[in-house]
Amino acid sequence: MARRLVLVTGASSGIGAAFARQFASKGWDLALVARREDKLKDLAEEVKARFGVDSLIIADDLSDPDAPARIVKAVADAGRQIDGLVNNAGAGQPGYFTETSWEDQARFLELMATSYLKLMHLIAPDMAKRGFGRIVNIASVSALLPSARAHTVYSGTIYPGIKSLLIKASEALAQELGDKGVHVTAVAPGYTWSEFHDVNGARATVSRLPKYWMLTAEEVAIAGYDAVERGVPLRVPGAWYKFLVAVARILPDPVGRAVMRAQEKRMQAQAGGQAASEGA
Ligand SMILES: NC(=O)c1ccc[n+]([C@@H]2O[C@H](COP(=O)([O-])OP(=O)(O)OC[C@H]3O[C@@H](n4cnc5c(N)ncnc54)[C@H](OP(=O)(O)O)[C@@H]3O)[C@@H](O)[C@H]2O)c1
Repeated sequence: MARRLVLVTGASSGIGAAFARQFASKGWDLALVARREDKLKDLAEEVKARFGVDSLIIADDLSDPDAPARIVKAVADAGRQIDGLVNNAGAGQPGYFTETSWEDQARFLELMATSYLKLMHLIAPDMAKRGFGRIVNIASVSALLPSARAHTVYSGTIYPGIKSLLIKASEALAQELGDKGVHVTAVAPGYTWSEFHDVNGARATVSRLPKYWMLTAEEVAIAGYDAVERGVPLRVPGAWYKFLVAVARILPDPVGRAVMRAQEKRMQAQAGGQAASEGA
């Protein structure tokens, strides 16, 4: 029997590469998607050597509305079916919503939300027909915590809202598809070591955070793989972030926002005036 195959978007670094390694370690073949083909090839060679699994390399730009259909076709053209999907590709859209162009916001939405939904819409029906599927959507803990003004500075004003959409859509799809053998899980990481904060310019600020605020990409991938295997619709990796989310759920909204503002001020002071609670 052919090995199962998981399509991982944003596999050229960080959380996506860690998910690819995690699935490969469990014997899954991979379809690796990102723009940097050289990084995908390096990862494909690494997992072949370590775990003996095969990879398809699909270099594409998920902010292009036609990319999801092209990617799914590339896998079909290679004679493979998609048994798993890790929707992970992403980057921040720094700057105030009202001061950036609609074209930039539209590209951001396409990359961070629409491409995720399109890939699920293209892939999940066949999974349901076959009675097996594993889908992971990478959200963010920022969607589960009170709004922070500083999200705007690096990740984008609508970043937490987009991640909320992914959580609610994952929970609803988990219900829609659960009895058809298709597990859908949203993973909501906090600050994670990756290239994310180099790309969005928050590296200096994030480097000043206490160690217990930082997750590794491997921790996120192990937690996400475990959750989707078990059919858990939402997983928050790490004890610190589980605690923060539990507290946020019991605090009245105005109190939660006040706590977040106080925390932002403290971090700004520590960072010498830089906005400091953005990014996750
Ligand atoms: N790091 C954190 O603190 C954190 C916290 C919560 C959630 N997240 C989420 O985790 C996900 C992965 O981020 P990461 O932390 O692993 O960051 P990362 O190391 O910067 O990885 C981002 C990945 O997305 C790919 N990507 C970016 N734009 C793309 C595009 N237009 N088309 C195709 N691929 C694209 C990048 O590859 P190429 O550049 O090669 O295209 C890269 O493989 C994101 O959805 C992010 O919102 C991150």
